[in-house]
Amino acid sequence: MSESETHEAEALPADVIPAATNPGRRLMIAGNWKMNAGGTDGCDLALSIARVAANNEETEVVVAPPFTAIAAVANELYNKKSDVAVAAQNLFFEESGAFTGEVSAPMLRIAGATWAIIGHSERRQLFGESDEAVLKKVVAANAGGLKCIVCVGETLDQREAGQTLEVIERQIGAFAAELAKSGGDGVVAYEPVWAIGTGKVASPEDAQEIHAAIRELLSRVDRDFANQTRILYGGSVKANNAEGLLAQKDIDGALVGGASLEADGFGKIIEIAAKLARQGKSE
Ligand code: 13P
Repeated sequence: MSESETHEAEALPADVIPAATNPGRRLMIAGNWKMNAGGTDGCDLALSIARVAANNEETEVVVAPPFTAIAAVANELYNKKSDVAVAAQNLFFEESGAFTGEVSAPMLRIAGATWAIIGHSERRQLFGESDEAVLKKVVAANAGGLKCIVCVGETLDQREAGQTLEVIERQIGAFAAELAKSGGDGVVAYEPVWAIGTGKVASPEDAQEIHAAIRELLSRVDRDFANQTRILYGGSVKANNAEGLLAQKDIDGALVGGASLEADGFGKIIEIAAKLARQGKSE
């Protein structure tokens, strides 16, 4: 990138092109099953979701089963000619070798995953995943042909200490330049840790404010990248609160945990996103 382009990117205001006028930012609803539905129950869940997704093609749907179910779920979806894509919930940054218990990007591709969730707060908090490891995983995903959903978000303590933007800037800064190498294919998920699994959802206005700040941070790398990159909200998203969040200008979808394990509730969120897309979102 030339110096003048860099300068132009920095001058970009936070309110870049709204999603409704940017066909590249198709609303995405992704279900993170966490450590659940790892057997045939995962296949049943995926097939129920695929039926809803087939009638709501405006929404891009992704499911992230545990490693044990990735191949079976991907196979079922492929056999049903479903567009629902499969994500891994994690990956290791080496390709192969003596790394007991780890799974690499090329292995996940062979199993049928096309996406990888990277840097989820549960990985950061429970498994000590650093910003450096997150970057290595984004590099590995890019090299291995997996598209990334990279998660960021502040803890309750950080929020109460007024550190939300500082934390997000640090987390985004670690991987944004690498994510930009996959153009508009990369996805960022803003998941405030205090909202995950707690039933405490961020208000649509608060979430929009952080999403706009994230897009501004991405624009420091490249303006087109910032415009094209979808920023999902995650944290206690349910059918009864999804519409207000998804209607926001810089909220391009949702990363759903608990509510993605139940086909009816998750299906409703897919339908809400499709309805908003059909309405041009902001109309
Ligand atoms: P919940 O929807 O259960 O709060 O989980 C959100 C999440 O962590 C998705 O990755």
